[in-house]
Amino acid sequence: MTKKLTDKKLAVLGAGKLGGILLRAYLKQGLFSAKHVTATVKHGDKAASLEKELGVATTTDNRKAVHGADIVLLGVKPQVVGEVLREIAPELSADTLVISVAASVPTNYIEQHAGAKVPVVRAMPNTCSRVHTGMTGICSGAHASAAHLEIARAMFDAVGRTVVVDEKHMDAVTGLSASGPAFAYIILESFAEAGVKVGLPRDVSTLLAAQMMKGAASVVLETGDHPALLKDSVTTPAGCTIDGIMELEEGKLRVTLIKAVVKATHRAGELLFEK
Ligand SMILES: NC(=O)c1ccc[n+]([C@@H]2O[C@H](COP(=O)([O-])OP(=O)(O)OC[C@H]3O[C@@H](n4cnc5c(N)ncnc54)[C@H](OP(=O)(O)O)[C@@H]3O)[C@@H](O)[C@H]2O)c1
Repeated sequence: MTKKLTDKKLAVLGAGKLGGILLRAYLKQGLFSAKHVTATVKHGDKAASLEKELGVATTTDNRKAVHGADIVLLGVKPQVVGEVLREIAPELSADTLVISVAASVPTNYIEQHAGAKVPVVRAMPNTCSRVHTGMTGICSGAHASAAHLEIARAMFDAVGRTVVVDEKHMDAVTGLSASGPAFAYIILESFAEAGVKVGLPRDVSTLLAAQMMKGAASVVLETGDHPALLKDSVTTPAGCTIDGIMELEEGKLRVTLIKAVVKATHRAGELLFEK
């Protein structure tokens, strides 16, 4: 797969936070060759600095960037997707794979604007992709084949893990694993504050909190054990952990987190229709 992608021409439209993270990873890993990549942003000054930093052709002209591209990665905000697709539609064909990371934007919306039976893959990565620990959900549109989905998978496996889901679950993926890092940072920051409260220096406290959360997540991923079972293994009868758990239950941590993901999921369905 890697060799095949090096030959592909990639256009990254909207090389902002997320598009930039993906593009930097592809260049660093040699997944795509810099000479075959074009990026776009809205502002000319940003284009110039990105071109200087990444060494790829960068412009504000989406249509020009897409001309001759095999893969188009759409990294613009949901509300801008329609406008960008209208610009680039004349350059798209059944041979151009369009991969969109825009929250809220269904594959059929992209297909309607792109025309010409364009294969579309919708993806929802997260910013942890920055350090190769991303989590991305992907689903295919009406004209995307298994081979197209495999190309998209390779592009998101390059920055972490990828899971294929039904499109009806994409807003839930957005609410959980794409918004989730923000929720996790608040939890992590709270642990660090707690450490300070019980007398630890802030840097030590933050390190303990972050490595502990990374460790707990790694155990779940590597053992496949149920989190409740793992929690029980930490909780000695009449020990200190159970006292902490009682505080968490009284503070309604579980239901608060569930409600946060439900709200973010509902919101993920609304973004496209806003101006
Ligand atoms: N951030 C996340 O955690 C995350 C996670 C999953 C999915 N996403 C999705 O990723 C997309 C981008 O989010 P982001 O957080 O990366 O936002 P962002 O940093 O604001 O990036 C958007 C980029 O789009 C560019 N842009 C705006 N209008 C354009 C146009 N007409 N043509 C070409 N480029 C244009 C902007 O250019 P300038 O820099 O010149 O303004 C900017 O670089 C959104 O659809 C979002 O739903 C984000």
